[in-house]
Amino acid sequence: MATKRYTITAALPYTNGPIHIGHLAGVYVPADIYARYLRLTGNDVAFICGSDEHGVAIPMRAKKEGVSPQEIIDTYHGIIKRSFEDFGISFDNYSRTSASIHHHTASDFFVKLYEQGDFVEKVTEQLYDEEAKQFLADRFVIGTCPRCGYEEAYGDQCENCGTSWSATDLIDPRSTITGAKPSRKKTKHWFLPLDRYESFLREWILEGHKDDWKPNVYGQCKSWIDDGLKPRAVTRDLDWGIPVPVEGGQGKVLYVWFDAPIGYISSTKEWAAREGKDWEPYWKDEKTKLVHFIGKDNIVFHCIIFPSMLKAHGDLILPENVPANEFLNLEGNKLSTSKNWAVWLHEYLQEFPEKQDVLRYVLTANAPESKDNDFTWKDFQARNNNELVAIFGNFINRVVVLTHKYFAGEVPSASAFSAYDDKVMTQLRGFPERIAKSIERYRFREASQQLMNLARLGNKYLADEEPWKLIKTDRERVQTIMHVALQIAAGLAILSEPFLPFTTEKLKKILNVTPSPVEGSLAWDTVYVKEALLPAGHQVNKGELLFGKIEDEDIQKQLDKLEATKKANEAANKNVVPQKETISFEDFTRLDLRVGTIIEAQKMPKTNKLLVIKVDTGIDVRTVVSGIAESFKPEDIVGKQVTVLANLAPRKLRGVESQGMVLMTEDAEGKLVFVNPDEVGVNNGERIA
Ligand code: MF3
Ligand code: ZN
Repeated sequence: MATKRYTITAALPYTNGPIHIGHLAGVYVPADIYARYLRLTGNDVAFICGSDEHGVAIPMRAKKEGVSPQEIIDTYHGIIKRSFEDFGISFDNYSRTSASIHHHTASDFFVKLYEQGDFVEKVTEQLYDEEAKQFLADRFVIGTCPRCGYEEAYGDQCENCGTSWSATDLIDPRSTITGAKPSRKKTKHWFLPLDRYESFLREWILEGHKDDWKPNVYGQCKSWIDDGLKPRAVTRDLDWGIPVPVEGGQGKVLYVWFDAPIGYISSTKEWAAREGKDWEPYWKDEKTKLVHFIGKDNIVFHCIIFPSMLKAHGDLILPENVPANEFLNLEGNKLSTSKNWAVWLHEYLQEFPEKQDVLRYVLTANAPESKDNDFTWKDFQARNNNELVAIFGNFINRVVVLTHKYFAGEVPSASAFSAYDDKVMTQLRGFPERIAKSIERYRFREASQQLMNLARLGNKYLADEEPWKLIKTDRERVQTIMHVALQIAAGLAILSEPFLPFTTEKLKKILNVTPSPVEGSLAWDTVYVKEALLPAGHQVNKGELLFGKIEDEDIQKQLDKLEATKKANEAANKNVVPQKETISFEDFTRLDLRVGTIIEAQKMPKTNKLLVIKVDTGIDVRTVVSGIAESFKPEDIVGKQVTVLANLAPRKLRGVESQGMVLMTEDAEGKLVFVNPDEVGVNNGERIA
């Protein structure tokens, strides 16, 4: 087996929230399948990731939650790392960009480019928020995308069309901190002159990777290059990030997209140091194959900007491929962290414990490889029940049960193979290569379906041969049938590892084979070189069910949860009336707010809206006329405690003097509700402050 060295990277997730199925489907599951497959076939693999902790979304979230950015990154770094472990994403190293090894690596990288004269230093006008006293770039600005007209494009990128921008490109920009229209102010920055790399990029991508990069990736690169590349600022006026390490850089930090991809290198260094290896061949040896797994919104950074940085650096290799995926939607809508429209991995595991492989499988079988795709709970259930349970699990279960029933769990020896047996064995031997080819071409959906086809082959073989009927008349034939079926089961144990690592482990226990396939007897290649994966006389263990059925109720629960999210979002989206002018504390203290109880209520004659109510305010009993008759029946509110503005000047409504006001708000459906002191009773006359 020819072995190669691979550096496989998976996009560093931002630590401003947990991760969801979209992340898993788009990046981490395909990357993991690829890495596991390469290890199984004896390659030298560094599978690298870590947390991206300098994005501006992080200090923004910190501000919103009233905590420090450090607290935010520590919390989510922990949650994300844990989710990856839980789902069997087999990184060789999971680092973080706040690590000092990364700060050093990124700083040194910047200094090297600076000293080589690879940057252009420019004083330009940048957007400035006078109110927040802060320069605005990236996610601190939204405006209209000059390309697609989307009105909520960010200062660095339009999420609608994927185009990458500088904040000053946006039409009608607004600050996301204060909502203000920014002014412009001069400031100095370092720019990477991408225009200098145009001919390199043309030759390397447009000519060199026309046939082996995915069309969606190639197409984006081409349109970028054809549009004309411009210098891009790689520093920012912010206080969260890696300080600019050169003269004049005080108070400025490296742009997050400059430092984050260097994180792949720092994480490799961290891993090598721990493992007693040399990191350099993984980033410097031309024979090493570097592959970046990312989502489509990251294409420009991994195909244009980072390669230009690598090229400028001079000692480092370029990616051989960047198999970016499209997006996964959830039940017809875009996944969204801020709208909570997601299946969070940590929540999934609470609700479907031990079912990591089910999610891995469904996300692979339905991966957004060439177009956006939809995750639905119905499909999740169907794939589990009709494929994993009914095909894969069922086949293994039958083989193991029958082997125990007829042969006390011992692999029987085969006598002469029938033509059908030969055909099945030949088909079995063809699977490793077929699956390998699909994986090597980054076609993970196809690969997962081939795996399922192997289980189908096994099921069909048993159904056709019917050993449960033959056992009464031809025990010798049944020995051969079970021998063949057990070889298929062993084939599944080996070939399912990249896709279903937890199931593989269980299956190997059941089949009683060594857990480590590379050194052990069951390496990937043995499926087609070995006479018998499980030799006659080998004892297999008693079975356990590999997969369990998912019931309609389980699915309904998930759908209900999403429905509730939708409702909550709709309520939150109702147009919020802008805040009124600021008042002083003294103004506030002039309001006399009291707790009162409604002791009488009746409709104002000849009106639809007004109720005349008597309120015991603790000070007195007074009459209040209130426009709430469409929301409440008089008899329903008697006895209720309410908040009363007691010192409002009296006024006459339809001839009745109203001596105060009862505080109300509207719910999502436009129905009025009382602003109550609390559920529990408070004494009338208590002041509210
Ligand atoms: N944090 C980025 C995102 O989630 C990805 C960074 S990838 C890296 O979109 F290359 F910069 F590390
Ligand atoms: Zn756009």
